[in-house]
Amino acid sequence: MKTYISPNYPQLCQAVAQNVIDCVKTKPDALICIAGGDTPLGVFAALVDAQKQGHVDFSRTQFLGIDEWLGLGKADKGSCREMVWHHFFDKLPLRDEQICFFDGLTSDPKAECQRVDRYIDRHGPIDCVVLGIGMNGHIGFNEPGVSLENTCHVVDLDAVTQAVSVKYFDTPREVKQGISLGLKTLLAAKNIVVMASGEKKSAIVAQTVNHPATVDIPSTLVKTVPQAALYVDNAAASAL
Ligand code: GLP
Repeated sequence: MKTYISPNYPQLCQAVAQNVIDCVKTKPDALICIAGGDTPLGVFAALVDAQKQGHVDFSRTQFLGIDEWLGLGKADKGSCREMVWHHFFDKLPLRDEQICFFDGLTSDPKAECQRVDRYIDRHGPIDCVVLGIGMNGHIGFNEPGVSLENTCHVVDLDAVTQAVSVKYFDTPREVKQGISLGLKTLLAAKNIVVMASGEKKSAIVAQTVNHPATVDIPSTLVKTVPQAALYVDNAAASAL
């Protein structure tokens, strides 16, 4: 897997944003998928800036959310929906029909998975996906032990993911389940960017690169497809 190491987080975000911009320039109606979480926040800022400067036009682009905590919605600070809208969608002149995102407040998660799968059948495959890496190697909410055959699915969250989740929320939250795009959909994307930043991610980045591909460390599975690349900053690359 090709690995790109940037000296710092801002330059990492510029490099990833440029990858997304190139994709949209080549295909203005591309289906773009960018993770929630802290890692891509600088990418969102760089893309909003590029749009304002006229370097990219998202008017025909489709955006697909990767995952969500079940039970949380836009009013819940730290939900994927709240983060992605606050840092990205609300800052762009998008129409509602350009966005497909899991509803974490759904009363019928199975039907919600089917709704998003139908959207992917219509608009997919994904042209460009930007994935973060969880501390346990999850991508989206594809937790250790996940099936390679999954499309959209409901996930029982791993203990590590539940423990790490407190960093997103300003009040204590019980998050036991998530809803996520599956590996079958993610690994079929035409261009896969796996992104990590900071020293705290250095161990899982080293495992992603050095450990043979296994469902027990989902981030290692990206090595099984040729169209995936790893983008890290110096700190995240420090154990390589
Ligand atoms: C989160 C999200 C993922 C994200 C990953 C890393 O829980 N569900 O989509 O990519 O875990 O998060 P962070 O970027 O905050 O480290």
